Amino acid sequence: MKRIPFEYAVLAISVGVTFAVATPARAQTSAADSKRNETSAEKLARGKYLVTVAGCNDCHTPWVMGPKGPEPDMSRMLSGHPESDKLPPAPAPQGPWIMTAAATNTAFSGPWGVSYTANLTPEAETGLGKWTQRNFTETIRTGRHMGRGRQILPPMPIPMYKHFTDADLEAIFGYLQTIPAVKNRVPEPLPAAQPVAAK
Ligand code: HEC
Repeated sequence: MKRIPFEYAVLAISVGVTFAVATPARAQTSAADSKRNETSAEKLARGKYLVTVAGCNDCHTPWVMGPKGPEPDMSRMLSGHPESDKLPPAPAPQGPWIMTAAATNTAFSGPWGVSYTANLTPEAETGLGKWTQRNFTETIRTGRHMGRGRQILPPMPIPMYKHFTDADLEAIFGYLQTIPAVKNRVPEPLPAAQPVAAK
């Protein structure tokens, strides 16, 4: 039998020891990783669920006429009022009919003026791509753009959504950051044409 040089034997032993020590550590890390992935996968699924049942697509996804009537065009999911869709002035309110919705259900005229739904996709310039979780949570909690800008206009259901828990808002925002980015610059709202007469 050939003698194994001493240095190689030491190397082999130390590699073996390193491997023996490293293996459980690696196993632990990957268990932690998969736990984390599982948790974030669950969180994303919950975010998707909340966005779906809270009806964000009703207003933030433009509607088109489908075979069974108007439906949100999911190829433009949550991209807000289409910038290409320039609307004529809204009809004047009549009697109790004080609000008008455009065919896309992304533009609304009412006593507050005209509001256009925001682009909620992660597009950097025209969507929420540069927003942080904090920007999002504070917007929903305070009803102000990024928590400190102008007031968010109707019919965005801030009075209801401000009751979402922090965990819900994290799940929603986390999910919104994973949907396809759509470049679409939503117009600024228009002020009310004339003050609503006090009765
Ligand atoms: C009934 C219609 C409606 C529904 C439902 C709705 N939104 Fe909105 N949302 C709007 C309108 C209109 C605006 C723009 C208001 C404005 O310009 O002040 C808006 C604005 C926003 C903004 C503010 C963006 C900014 O730049 O400040 C965020 C964030 C938002 N919506 C998220 C959501 C999420 C998330 C959901 C679902 C959980 C949702 N919206 C559901 C109508 C709606």
